[in-house]
Amino acid sequence: MPYKKIPLVVIIPAAGIGKRMKANCPKQYLKINQTTILEHTVTRLASHPMINKIIIALGAEDEYFAKTHLSEQAKVFVVDGGKERVDSVLAGLNIIDPNEFPWVLVHDAARPCLALNDLDSLIEACLAENIGGILASPVRDTMKRGKDFLIQATVEREDLWHALTPQMYPTTQLKTSIEQALDAQAVITDEASAIEFSGGKSQLISSSSENIKITHPDDLALAEFIINKQLSTNVNIQENQ
Ligand code: CTP
Ligand code: MG
Repeated sequence: MPYKKIPLVVIIPAAGIGKRMKANCPKQYLKINQTTILEHTVTRLASHPMINKIIIALGAEDEYFAKTHLSEQAKVFVVDGGKERVDSVLAGLNIIDPNEFPWVLVHDAARPCLALNDLDSLIEACLAENIGGILASPVRDTMKRGKDFLIQATVEREDLWHALTPQMYPTTQLKTSIEQALDAQAVITDEASAIEFSGGKSQLISSSSENIKITHPDDLALAEFIINKQLSTNVNIQENQ
């Protein structure tokens, strides 16, 4: 699929407090191999040749970012995040000029295991088809709908996907969709849900299930295992080690 290479901007929402992680700092500042999760995430995105700018949305009380090496990175800019993830993403969108960056990617700070080949697949699919899209992984287990801890039904698995990030859209389409959805007080948990709200199309691009979001305490050891495995077996990632 031929597509024109253009400069891309990424927004990284990193203003959460990581409540479910139960750590003594926001989870994006926990370390894997002596490096914060946020730095792992940013380093991978910054190593992509088309990604020219990375906007990180930080919490108002963030006292950790300044202690990382990220502020020294030429591609990195910061904004104040908001109450919900979508507010943090919108804060990033507000400082992007769509003429300079007609397409934007959004990637969770808490997903440090993103492989460059998955990032490539997303960018290629979106630009070649001229339709936004998300990395996603097909559901593997039999899915049940439950109520009060009793099974109500089996849900057809064939059509179900886990929505991951990055999610990539034309900058103006994403901003307009989020603003409309917020005005209507719709529940927006990812960029695709804002696009769905406004009736837009999104492609599902199959991703490695290694692209986990660190959410609960157990996920930290799993992410470390995945990163070390990728470093030893996969030349397709770059890390400053
Ligand atoms: N995020 C954000 N602004 C918010 C809430 C979340 O930028 N107001 C970011 C988080 O920092 C994270 C990403 O959105 O990188 C995904 O959110 P999640 O995994 O839910 O992180 P937290 O909200 O920090 O965790 P928890 O829900 O357990 O508190
Ligand atoms: Mg959250």
